[in-house]
Amino acid sequence: MVSASTMKIIRESGAVPASEYVLEVEDVRKEFPGVLALDNVKFQLRRGTVHALMGENGAGKSTLMKIIAGIYTPDSGSFKLRGVDIRLNSPLDALENGIAMIHQELNLMGPMSVAENIWIRREPVNRFGIINHAEMHQRTEELFKRLNIDIDPEIEVRSLSVANRQML
Ligand SMILES: Nc1ncnc2c1ncn2[C@@H]1O[C@H](COP(=O)(O)OP(=O)(O)O)[C@@H](O)[C@H]1O
Ligand SMILES: [Mg+2]
Repeated sequence: MVSASTMKIIRESGAVPASEYVLEVEDVRKEFPGVLALDNVKFQLRRGTVHALMGENGAGKSTLMKIIAGIYTPDSGSFKLRGVDIRLNSPLDALENGIAMIHQELNLMGPMSVAENIWIRREPVNRFGIINHAEMHQRTEELFKRLNIDIDPEIEVRSLSVANRQML
């Protein structure tokens, strides 16, 4: 079992053996007071595939996604990322390992720019720890170009349409 930060270092070194699955969740259990939300859940995600998780209200879909995104800690179960056993302790851990969750409920900072919202808590900084806005802007432009998104990185999020906010 490695920590999320160690996993990040391993991944960046390119030393991780290519595993069949990007993500493997096994035997996950999560109980809330009085409710067993997840029991013995297994989920495997193959590289380059898209999954839809379906189930009635209260089936535990959101709980499973929140566990994968590091928001909830499961009571038990194992979690493998690219073949490596890992423990996520926070959403930031998940984010640093390439797991992002797009919430149904929008959670953006309206008065801040598009770029600032994207890089929040991951802002590129100079060696004095000061945010490098030019780099943040450039990285956002590159990202949008790659994803074919036509949004100005510098406009305030509150002036975007709901559809465009969801893109962020
Ligand atoms: N934070 C929580 N506290 C207590 N119970 C919760 C919490 N989140 C979810 N639950 C309960 O866990 C079960 C699964 O919920 P959820 O994962 O939201 O289902 P779904 O997303 O499939 O509708 C439900 O019974 C729900 O009431
Ligand atoms: Mg839900």
